[in-house]
This record gives sequence, structure tokens and C-alpha cells, in this order.
Amino acid sequence: MNLLKIDNLHASIGEEKILNGFSLEINAGETHAIMGPNGSGKSTLSYVLSGKDDYDVTEGSIHLKSKNISGLEADERSKLGMFLAFQYPIELPGVTGMTFLRTIINSSRLANNLPELEGIEIVKLIREKAANLEISQDMLKRFVNVGFSGGEKKRFEILQMSLLNPSIAILDETDSGLDVDALRIVGNGVTELKSKDRGMLVITHYQRLLDHIIPDFVHIMVKGKILESGGPELAKVVEKEGYKRFIDEN
Ligand SMILES: Nc1ncnc2c1ncn2[C@@H]1O[C@H](COP(=O)(O)OP(=O)(O)OP(=O)(O)O)[C@@H](O)[C@H]1O
Ligand SMILES: [Mg+2]
Repeated sequence: MNLLKIDNLHASIGEEKILNGFSLEINAGETHAIMGPNGSGKSTLSYVLSGKDDYDVTEGSIHLKSKNISGLEADERSKLGMFLAFQYPIELPGVTGMTFLRTIINSSRLANNLPELEGIEIVKLIREKAANLEISQDMLKRFVNVGFSGGEKKRFEILQMSLLNPSIAILDETDSGLDVDALRIVGNGVTELKSKDRGMLVITHYQRLLDHIIPDFVHIMVKGKILESGGPELAKVVEKEGYKRFIDEN
């Protein structure tokens, strides 16, 4: 089943044109990786997909489970099952991790006509998933992302994803700034979330994350569009040779 269909997407911010005809289809069960030089538009793509304001989509369309979501707000896209793990997670001073997670779980459940979870039931669920990602109880009592280390922020993003069960998960450089142990924790956390009902889009600069999360497809993005697609071997070419070959050939 097709979960996400991006067709000839063009998007700009102010005068700056950043996406230039980006197309990609993700079916249920598939994991796609996007690699590309700094500034090629990867984060912009993830923001545009998630419905962040500030971007003008000038051409093309985005379908999520066959529904055109181009005009939908970020929260509506999220209710339809889209999740974005940010490259730079935002701080929420005054909101504890536990409160935040309870809120997102229940709003997602309400959107899916499921009863809200309460009391010990929801706390247990959160604690269990947090423990899998080696996130401590103390961290859940702190304000979201405030003073978290880079690696803690990334693990907290994956925790959100594991609690929301999205249909499409977009991970923007979830590996950046992780030490080798955190990389393994995050890699395993993501791999456990692979499912025949879910599609994943993993943006990364490094082959090493893809050793953990073995993608079905790797796409090379340059200047706002995909130049080349292949299997995991493409990531190895990038690691060895950089992007020159892809740019020269196109
Ligand atoms: N608000 C903005 N105003 C002007 N230009 C912007 C804005 N946001 C992004 N850009 C530009 O768009 C281009 C693409 O940025 P983007 O963050 O999407 O790249 P990226 O592929 O994610 O890079 P990286 O690998 O460094 O994370 C960059 O040249 C960036 O400077
Ligand atoms: Mg980026």
C-alpha cells in the first residue's frame, strides 16, 4: 500500500527556491534513506512534508494514504499518521517530558477514535518505552529538551515516535551528535519500529546509521531533488567518494 507520494514538489522560502521537483513514493513496510550535501534541502523537505508554515509550495503535491495533504496544518498531518523527528529538537520550558508525552499520546488516540489512556496505565507505557531507549525516569521529570545533551534530545525524539506509532516517520539526522553507544540505541530503537504497516524516511549523512537501520532504498538529493536512487550500496559509494560522482553524472 502506498503511504506517501510526493510528486514534483517545488518549494521556496522567501525568494529562495529550495525544492526543485522532488518526487518520491514510500510504500508500507519500506525504509528509505536520503543522503545529500549540506544545504541540498533535506531538512526543508521534512518541514514541508510535516506542514511547517514559512514555506511556499509552488508546484507539486503530497499525498498521505492517498489523501492530498498539501493544504493541511501540521497537527492535522500528525493526526493522519505523519511524524517528524527534528534535526534540531525544540525546547519546551515549563512542560515536563512526562506531561508532554501523555498529551501527545492521548491527542493521537483521540484522533484515531481510541479511548484516552490514564493514570498508571499511561505512565507504565511511557516508562517502559523510555527504558528501552535508556531514558531515565529523572529525564522524564525535566522540561522537554531543556538542557538535554544532543544525544538525549535525539533519543527523546525516538521515544515520541515509539509512543505515537506513526504511519510515516521522517527522521532528520537522528544520528548527528550521537556517541557510538547512543547510535546503537537509536539504531535499534528505529529498527524495532520497522513494521509492515509503516514507512520510514531517514535523512542522514553517514553510512554508519544505515548499518543499524538497513534501508530498502537510498536516494541522493542535490539542489532540491533526487539525482539518483539505489540500494544500500549507494550509501557506501557516498562514504568513499563523496557526492562528486553524482553531481558530475547529472
Ligand atoms: N529560512 C530560510 N531563509 C533562507 N534560506 C533558507 C531558510 N531555510 C533554509 N534555507 C536555505 O535552504 C537551503 C537548504 O537548507 P536545508 O536546511 O533544507 O538543507 P539540508 O539539506 O538539511 O542541509 P544539512 O545537511 O546541513 O542539514 C540552504 O541553502 C539554506 O540556507
Ligand atoms: Mg538538514
